[in-house]
Amino acid sequence: MTNHFPIFSKHTPLGQPLIYLDSAASTQKPQVVIDTITDFYTNEYASTGRGSYWPANAASAKYEQVRHQVASFLNAKSDREIVFTSGTTDAINKVARSFVYPTLSPGDCVVTTTMEHHSNYLPWQQICKEKKCELVVAPLNQNGILNTLALEAQLAKGAKFLALTAVSNVLGTQNDVTAIVSLAHQYDVPVLVDAAQAVAHYTIDVQAWDCDFLVFSGHKCYGSTGVGVLYGKTDYLAEMQPANYGGGMVQKVNTIDSSFRPIPHKHEAGTPNVAGVIGLGAALEFLQKKGLENVYEHEQALTVYALNQLAAMDSVTIYGSVEQRGPVISFNLDGVHPHDLSTFLNEQGICIRAGHHCAQPLMQWLDVAATARVSFGMYNTKVDIDQLVAGLKSAYQFFR
Ligand SMILES: Cc1ncc(COP(=O)(O)O)c(C=O)c1O
Repeated sequence: MTNHFPIFSKHTPLGQPLIYLDSAASTQKPQVVIDTITDFYTNEYASTGRGSYWPANAASAKYEQVRHQVASFLNAKSDREIVFTSGTTDAINKVARSFVYPTLSPGDCVVTTTMEHHSNYLPWQQICKEKKCELVVAPLNQNGILNTLALEAQLAKGAKFLALTAVSNVLGTQNDVTAIVSLAHQYDVPVLVDAAQAVAHYTIDVQAWDCDFLVFSGHKCYGSTGVGVLYGKTDYLAEMQPANYGGGMVQKVNTIDSSFRPIPHKHEAGTPNVAGVIGLGAALEFLQKKGLENVYEHEQALTVYALNQLAAMDSVTIYGSVEQRGPVISFNLDGVHPHDLSTFLNEQGICIRAGHHCAQPLMQWLDVAATARVSFGMYNTKVDIDQLVAGLKSAYQFFR
């Protein structure tokens, strides 16, 4: 699999082969995505939706074709439900500002969970502050799985909105999204699903999940940075005011008032990241050709293998549950700060993440300042994990 990814044919500055265990932060890029973006800039570049000359027409057609492809990737009912954004963070902020904010009155509450990335926490905290509302953070059970009884109690109190992640970027916990959305809908609470850590790993079906909004970033599923997707049910996207105003999204502008294009374009003000969108199309096609079922099976096997190897080391503490886990493992090595560990492993060509992973409320719940984290993509192998384990053993000896 690494042969599709040119970075793996390079060596690190110290001359070792690259062992990349940080796909939860961002995936490496396959040649086909790099080539598609290069080809667009080289041979057919123009902006979309404005010009009526050949490269502009070609770019507009490709851009809209990717919208169709994303709709089908997510099993959305219509292309109109797909808005291109600059990423997950941008998409969540759009929903917070344009959909949820106008519905809030003082004393209302918005619910999120303890396992959210700051991107699915701060936009809600901010609008709640501004509207004098409460942000309720649903707790986890001891094993890091969402406590659905506590969540239901909050929903029953008349929450206005629920925002939760499909997969935790720290614990790897995979939430049962279908069941949680169904629970929220029993109380008429709309739900946003943060699929940033799901999109590259298993099949998403927005109709089966019945979520009201779903968001993800291109760079986490083998596409480029600076592009993302906001899926929203047609009525909700239509009812939402745009978060941004500018070129491209207008029907008619005059000095008194203006009117906007229908969805999805009214939510895409300004020149979009055309190359990023076209690259996203290539990335999703690449993923689909590999088969998400195969990717899932491969990454699950790696995760189980890694968990077993790590669990066999007395010096390692693993966080979160063994079950319901995506390809993300957070841990600590006794007596070694995660930043020291990652610096040490870097010397051996092994890239892992250390820190709070943009999830400080979760760190507080875990009662740690930071963790080390490994996460897998389709290009990882058991050999990578063996190297990691050997690296951890050396680190333990070195720092003791
Ligand atoms: C679960 C989750 N949500 C949101 C984000 C934010 O994604 P982006 O920085 O691409 O907007 C991340 C990134 O790590 C994430 O893991």
